[in-house]
Amino acid sequence: MENRIATEIAGLKLANPTMLAAGILGYTGLSMKSVIEAGAGAVVTKTMGLEPRTGYPNPTVVQTNCGLLNAMGLPNPGIRHFKEELNKLKNTRAPTILSIYGSSPEEFANVAEIAVNIGADALELNVSCPHVKKAGAEIGCDPLLLAEIVKEVKKRVDIPVIVKLTPNVANIGEIAKSAEEAGADAITAVNTVKAMAIEIETCRPILANKFGGLSGPAIKPIAVRCVYDVYRSVNVPVIGCGGITSWQDAVEFMLAGASAVQIGTAVAFKGVGVFNSVAKGIQDYLERKGFKNVKELVGLAHKF
Ligand code: FUM
Repeated sequence: MENRIATEIAGLKLANPTMLAAGILGYTGLSMKSVIEAGAGAVVTKTMGLEPRTGYPNPTVVQTNCGLLNAMGLPNPGIRHFKEELNKLKNTRAPTILSIYGSSPEEFANVAEIAVNIGADALELNVSCPHVKKAGAEIGCDPLLLAEIVKEVKKRVDIPVIVKLTPNVANIGEIAKSAEEAGADAITAVNTVKAMAIEIETCRPILANKFGGLSGPAIKPIAVRCVYDVYRSVNVPVIGCGGITSWQDAVEFMLAGASAVQIGTAVAFKGVGVFNSVAKGIQDYLERKGFKNVKELVGLAHKF
């Protein structure tokens, strides 16, 4: 059978256009290895910062009837302590994209430099976590600060730099353009949607942090719209993320403009087999519709 799903994004070679999204199974080398062995084209790690960070107290995750609501608070061991985990991925076939955060251009660039030294194949700048103060979406809502951060990181590293955007803005195309002009090699659209849940017997917000980020099928139409908007605003590749649970969802994101898709919440509900089933579904769809390569799908919906 002719391979129609191998692709390339910002110089990264992918056996197929599926990626593990940041935030799930991305803390250890072994868990990411299991995702690659299950068929993912690339993996994105849990977001790492300069220093170890405990994150928020429990509860940090709530299952709603349409997806997961989480507010972990960017817990991580600190980028330097992640080297041992990345070493375990050295001989795997899929690129490792290290998700990083910081609170200033200088801090982001310092983390980025260490990420390169410990073996990252590419970086994903998390400027979109919807609830961490002085980081995440506070940066991703400010096109000028975002541009400063991207420029500083690009000055200090020579691996691809992907910027993960928040959907919680009025004009995502404008933010994407600002990242592109500052040198971003690709854009991931999108992180979670800011949300909350309240327990009616105790009358209290459920998450310890009160607010969190909603992921899963509920946000898919929002994410598709964001990918569509970003695709028509920039010339760098777009990576779709938000509620993808089936090959049909992946194809929809590609028609909107995604060159690849990240899968997160579906891994929690369906297991790591989801990567293979999405990749195989895309391959079968391409054959049935007469497309020679997955790249031919990207942005097709913009013709109408
Ligand atoms: O709480 C968290 O660690 C979430 C991070 C994110 O949404 O980027």
